[in-house]
Amino acid sequence: MIIKSAEFVISNSDYRKCPQDGKPEYAFIGRSNVGKSSLINMLTNRKGLAMTSSTPGKTMLINHFLINDEWYLVDLPGYGYARRGKEGRDKLRKIIEDYVLEREAMTNLFVLIDSRHEPQKIDLEFMEWLGENGVPFAIVFTKADKLGSGRLQLNIDAYKEKLLETWEELPPVFVTSSEKGQGREELLSYIEQINSA
Ligand code: GTP
Ligand code: MG
Repeated sequence: MIIKSAEFVISNSDYRKCPQDGKPEYAFIGRSNVGKSSLINMLTNRKGLAMTSSTPGKTMLINHFLINDEWYLVDLPGYGYARRGKEGRDKLRKIIEDYVLEREAMTNLFVLIDSRHEPQKIDLEFMEWLGENGVPFAIVFTKADKLGSGRLQLNIDAYKEKLLETWEELPPVFVTSSEKGQGREELLSYIEQINSA
């Protein structure tokens, strides 16, 4: 897919105030610092579109980016981030949960997982919760450039094996690097395929 245009539209803490034009949207979720905002910049080929930071907890709102005037990419706050204490964490959790459960335009969620780490309880529980609520999602492994290809494949295989302990079937899996542009075509094709279905 060719990205002809990508523009920031609006930031909100409430899904009810998000765009109401009914265009399909694809949202990125995962732990703080996993690379959600960077992936949006990589997919759109626009470096400063979504704000990124090496410090976790950068994205605090639901951010809509309109792509080709036809569909949205949505950058969400990370989950599980502790700096703001329990109250701040609960507030973010509520924003995320309401968005995921109530937002009708949300077509597919991408759950981002740092490819360097072993399966984390918080991610596994989050995906479990998505399953219980019938939310369609795909898994995106991030920061693939930080590992050698052998280690990367081992980690991904181990992750899949872990998922198959509880899931009968695996969701679609993508491997990406925002540094190198890896996985861009695959992700965009996947979105295009859903858009035209
Ligand atoms: P929050 O908004 O805080 O939840 O974080 P986020 O998930 O949006 O992460 P963000 O995109 O801000 O990236 C966090 C850090 O990881 C930044 O320093 C990025 O430069 C770095 N990063 C993101 N993706 C990649 C990648 O593919 N490769 C490498 N090497 N670094 C990456
Ligand atoms: Mg972010």
